[in-house]
Amino acid sequence: MYNKVLKLAIFVVPLLSLTVYSGFLYENHAIGPELQQHNHSQSENAILSEKLLYPSRDPDRIILNLTETPETSIAINWRTDTTILSGTVEWAEATAGTEFRDNTMSVSADLERLTVKHGEEPTVTANYFSVKVEGLKAGGKYVYRVGTIDAWSEWHQIQMPDASKQKLSFIYFGDAQNDIKSMWSRVIREAYKTFPKIDFMLHAGDLINRHDRDIEWGEWFYAGSFIHATVPSVMTPGNHEYGKDIVLSPQWRRQFNLPLNGPKGLEETCYVVNYTTLKVISLDAEQIDESPIYLEKQKIWLDSVLTADPKKWTAITFHYPVFSTKPNRDNENLRNHFKPLFDKHKVDIVLQGHDHAYGRGMVSNVPTGTMIKDEISGTMYVVSVSGPKMYDISNDPWMERKARNTQLFQIITIDDNTLSYEAYTAHGELYDAFELIKSAKKINKLVNRIPASDERL
Ligand SMILES: [Fe+2]
Repeated sequence: MYNKVLKLAIFVVPLLSLTVYSGFLYENHAIGPELQQHNHSQSENAILSEKLLYPSRDPDRIILNLTETPETSIAINWRTDTTILSGTVEWAEATAGTEFRDNTMSVSADLERLTVKHGEEPTVTANYFSVKVEGLKAGGKYVYRVGTIDAWSEWHQIQMPDASKQKLSFIYFGDAQNDIKSMWSRVIREAYKTFPKIDFMLHAGDLINRHDRDIEWGEWFYAGSFIHATVPSVMTPGNHEYGKDIVLSPQWRRQFNLPLNGPKGLEETCYVVNYTTLKVISLDAEQIDESPIYLEKQKIWLDSVLTADPKKWTAITFHYPVFSTKPNRDNENLRNHFKPLFDKHKVDIVLQGHDHAYGRGMVSNVPTGTMIKDEISGTMYVVSVSGPKMYDISNDPWMERKARNTQLFQIITIDDNTLSYEAYTAHGELYDAFELIKSAKKINKLVNRIPASDERL
């Protein structure tokens, strides 16, 4: 197969008029069938899998995303090859038997074509489809499939959250980033196996290593497989979702369908999701770091969404840690600009990545040891990692529990006035736990439930 494809590529490549920039290429094309390039090469020590890289007529990379109103709507995305020119989501209330097929509704998808090329690797062109299904019942169970007449996915089954029960659970993952198929897959699968009844999954950035490298996105979708199509996700971009000149991964806005309610220019990277009792906010940390304009825009926006429409609980995710776990690493600019807002609005929990270790604490010290006790707001800061890349960990006193060289996933459950948090190792052992208890106008009460096991240092 490889040789056949290579021979074909030798003849086909010169016939195609593609503009290749150093490092990467991506562009949107007018819609119409065209030849797919299948010239193969290897780089960065990765074996390129055709199955993970190239689209076919059958939908792949199917993923659910949270909308800004996640109790009654859901966003659905998938990819096909360029011969498929239209896409539909069919959905119905789930039934015990196949009778749901007599009562289906359908929504046509938006389509965007994307061509990507990373370095010397082959060009990949795919059609990306996205749909927002609205008018769902809170607490309802639904089935859906995506595709077109002769190329449908299987029927996936989803459970909408029930706002009246006031209970919500989600899994939080730190950086997956490297060896995603080989070594991150067990983490997302163990997480799903341990807590299949969650309402969503949250990824705190650096889902992949090279922003435009399609095989890495292929591995990410492979690792989660049907879980991505069954449990909705939200994700915040890390520095590795950005390329040179602060260009966002070309796949990000095509393969995901995240809320557009953040500052202009930061669509699908800075946004808010509103449950009845929980506000989930993504900030774009790379743009905070690199752009004084986007820093200021995000500050003003965050202050306004937390002032105008507060919920009982607030979880914020962004990639760079406010308090670092890594020796000699510090994000002072981010801390100086955003911690005062977290304090002002009594943000409950901040979920971060980037440092490739685990640490969490209700901060009374900055990593340098300087006391800022008068600034305590009751916000819990967490840094975690789910992939295999590991860094050293510091001895900074802000961390009440820490770990190095440990792949983890976390489950967070909000039930009325209690937020319960548990961190599990990749092989399913409870590593850290606490509760936050909310009472009106006070800072949260912290109840540590740290297991007796030794810290992994
Ligand atoms: Fe990072």
